[in-house]
Amino acid sequence: FSATRRDFLLGGAATLGVVAAGGLSMASVIGRAGASENAGGAVNMLLRPGAAQASLVPDPAYQTAVWAYNGIVPGPEIRVRQGQRLHARLENALAQETTIHWHGIRVPNAMDGVPGLTQAAVKPGDSFDYVFDLPDAGTYWYHPHANTTEQLGRGLYGALIVEEADPLPVDRELVWMLDDWRLTESAAIDDGFNAMHDVGHAGRIGNVVTVNGVAPMGTFGDVPVRPGERIRLRLLNAANGRIFALDFDELAPMVIAMDGHPVTPHRNETPLLLLGPGMRFDLVIDIPVSGKPSFAVTDRFYEGMENAIARLVPSGTPLRDHAPDGDLALKPNSLPESDLGQAVKHDLIYSGGMMGDMILSQMIRSGHITPEKLSAMGMESAAGSGMGGMANMMRSMFGAGNIWAVNGRDPDRDGNGPLVTLTRGQTCHLTLMNATAWLHPIHLHGHAFRLLARNDAPVRHQPWLDTVLIEPGDRVEIAFVADNPGDWLIHCHILEHKVGGMSGVIRVL
Ligand code: C2O
Ligand code: CU
Repeated sequence: FSATRRDFLLGGAATLGVVAAGGLSMASVIGRAGASENAGGAVNMLLRPGAAQASLVPDPAYQTAVWAYNGIVPGPEIRVRQGQRLHARLENALAQETTIHWHGIRVPNAMDGVPGLTQAAVKPGDSFDYVFDLPDAGTYWYHPHANTTEQLGRGLYGALIVEEADPLPVDRELVWMLDDWRLTESAAIDDGFNAMHDVGHAGRIGNVVTVNGVAPMGTFGDVPVRPGERIRLRLLNAANGRIFALDFDELAPMVIAMDGHPVTPHRNETPLLLLGPGMRFDLVIDIPVSGKPSFAVTDRFYEGMENAIARLVPSGTPLRDHAPDGDLALKPNSLPESDLGQAVKHDLIYSGGMMGDMILSQMIRSGHITPEKLSAMGMESAAGSGMGGMANMMRSMFGAGNIWAVNGRDPDRDGNGPLVTLTRGQTCHLTLMNATAWLHPIHLHGHAFRLLARNDAPVRHQPWLDTVLIEPGDRVEIAFVADNPGDWLIHCHILEHKVGGMSGVIRVL
């Protein structure tokens, strides 16, 4: 065991060098070779989740037993054109049930991949055909929705890229799927999934960060670029629990899409780009014609625990002598615009977890949550006594029940009925309140929503999203037209939080 290796695995990601994150990963090359287009213009894809070996750390002496689609982490990159049909056959080579969820894609309900809600789980050896059209261009991904903490945590996920009819003219496109692994000293996956501590805190945070399935060491993460080059970077966070806060050095990327959907091109308003689990950003980066010899992309979410993500290293003759002009605005996807005047309003209050009672009382004091609202949800005792968090904690210590609640509901006690029922075509104006001490990326299936406001202040650009990151004590307002009938999950994408009860159903009749 080399000293470097030991530091690498035990010292957390802080000691890492630079992540390997070159142009097209091996995965995407193989993936494209594995896809075929049939006469009708549909893309056919075979996805076979099963056991595999991966070189997550660049030292070939350390192989990791993973679960992977078609033997590779990430799974094959699926590329389709907007409007095209995808025919994906799932062949389950795992020793347990699985499904595939197409994160962010507005699929028909039966294709959404949620076991027990939209389909029966696919048993070992069985297969299931997912067939649907891709209505929206953008950056999406796929992953299992059965035993998700373990199946994603062991490596089951891949990118799903829907290309625009008129792609943005760039010199190069990069896809970076970020992940975070909890490995043992011998680079094996720590098998303590759903540990109570992870469920009640920040989720399963690992000790090795990877980009496209490879962790950084030495020059392994150097991405050679040309001076003056224009790059489109598609960023995805496939981690169970880790939120990334990315620093782009002096590169000042332009944000052109969020969660797949085009947004008015703009520079990020905060110095760090926050990427919670499940979220995506499309960025345009212009490599300066003259400047520093390299540009580091670094995760700074945990202070003093930086993770190197990649290093862009310009070399060769400049591609041009100044940054290219050209409009970076992508053509919007055609999403149904909300009619806020006619909207039905609902609240979802997230509570529980460690120290949650404190935040809940703060929100009541500041008037963000009224006692009437709480009592309507059967939460008065928790709020009144400040014992909600404590009661939840007690339950979790006895291993029976849930650490988190949505509108005071404990699925074990209250069953799985919908949190909200809408009729088709209705505009839903939802206020999501984070009455916990933790951040939560809340993800809605089957729809894209507009992010309207945070803490009563209108949000700039009002992006279309499928996952919104909510800070402790914050209230976020979103709106969408319920145009897709069925039962749709709305859950925290910190997968351990979902296991702990931070999940529910929105029913569209
Ligand atoms: Cu990306 Cu319900 O999940
Ligand atoms: Cu959460």
